[in-house]
Amino acid sequence: VKRSPATRLDPRHLADGYALASWTRAIRQSVLRDILPLASEPGTLSFALGMPAPELFPREALGAAAAAVLADPEALQYAVPAERLKEHVVALMAARGVQCRASEVFLTTGAQQGMDLLARLFVEDRGTVLVEEATYDGLLMAVKPMRPRVLTVPTDARSGLDVDAVESLLCRGDRPAFLYVMSDGHNPLGVSLAADKRARLVDVAARHGLAVVEDDAYGLLHYEGGAARPLRALGPDVLYLGSFSKILAPALRVGWIVAPEPLLPRLSAIKQASDLDTATFSHRVAAAYLDAAALPAHLERLRVEYRARRDALLQAIAAHFPEEARVTRPRSGFFAWVELPERIDTRLLLPLAVRGHRVAYVPGHAFAARDSRRLASCLRLSFSSVARQEIDVGISRLGAVLKEALRP
Ligand SMILES: Cc1ncc(COP(=O)(O)O)c(C=O)c1O
Repeated sequence: VKRSPATRLDPRHLADGYALASWTRAIRQSVLRDILPLASEPGTLSFALGMPAPELFPREALGAAAAAVLADPEALQYAVPAERLKEHVVALMAARGVQCRASEVFLTTGAQQGMDLLARLFVEDRGTVLVEEATYDGLLMAVKPMRPRVLTVPTDARSGLDVDAVESLLCRGDRPAFLYVMSDGHNPLGVSLAADKRARLVDVAARHGLAVVEDDAYGLLHYEGGAARPLRALGPDVLYLGSFSKILAPALRVGWIVAPEPLLPRLSAIKQASDLDTATFSHRVAAAYLDAAALPAHLERLRVEYRARRDALLQAIAAHFPEEARVTRPRSGFFAWVELPERIDTRLLLPLAVRGHRVAYVPGHAFAARDSRRLASCLRLSFSSVARQEIDVGISRLGAVLKEALRP
């Protein structure tokens, strides 16, 4: 990249001496990326990143699927998205209680790309989006190029997003391009949206013409009986994001959008601009894996193991955290959310936790859609990639940090 002759440019348009598009001047890496080197120091028990447990990847079965796909000399050629995988997605959606057709399934390079595509399809430059006060930072990154006004609604730690707050916002005349919501296994809050709120939200959205983007990346990882049906089961206009990252392997980079059929050619045109229809090899490997009908047993294994880790985490928190700490009890997904007294700033505590006690977490502010004092005293714990026998040790270390910080 050539450095622009700085003398000819207004210095306000320069970043590090380069003349960049204006929206990129204020961007920075996700806070989670900053934490990665800290969290991966040897000896540190990390509850920071929401990674699937590597020992649970179905490596052998995926290897066999990849070998079968590679037997076709065209396997590595440019190709159109795999129809077979779309059929499997339709079956998975049915398992979530959603009726849809293969013609409504759009394959993406992970759910993250789904967010990027929907943001580009729906959000005007300097438009408006609606999210929860604490939300997945990947969505916030996806809407950044549009420099939107970000409106927020609160989320109850037990029942999920505040539907009344959504409705009052719409009644006062706000017209967001969409509402982004995680109905199960919320990242970072760990909460699942209560069944009555799901029905009300779909109803409010339909009455006000509000587009809803539902991110169900963790929906198939539920730990307490059958999970509630996603919003898309209640409203065919809901734009649904799914992913194989948490149930198979994130390195495959395969996710999907379920959207009304007329939107698919537009999504396809936007996607082609960024990566053509790449990842068809991954599509075919995933389809071959699913053809072998191994997923139901694999999902059950994941649920058993992640449920055990969740329970170990909650038990350890009850044993070691100061009594002022409030924690969510996740029914799905990888995360628990801890609220601490306001005088605690979890961002300031993190270096002490990592360097002094060898334990890592993500401070609440990393998920703040807008500046939020409330989230500064919270933290997210991921239980997915810490071995069961290490959870108690890690949480007792963190408990010691928190007790010390709260000491008068
Ligand atoms: C809520 C949520 N949505 C989407 C993603 C990204 O999924 P993918 O790997 O399919 O892009 C993540 C990953 O952590 C996530 O937590």
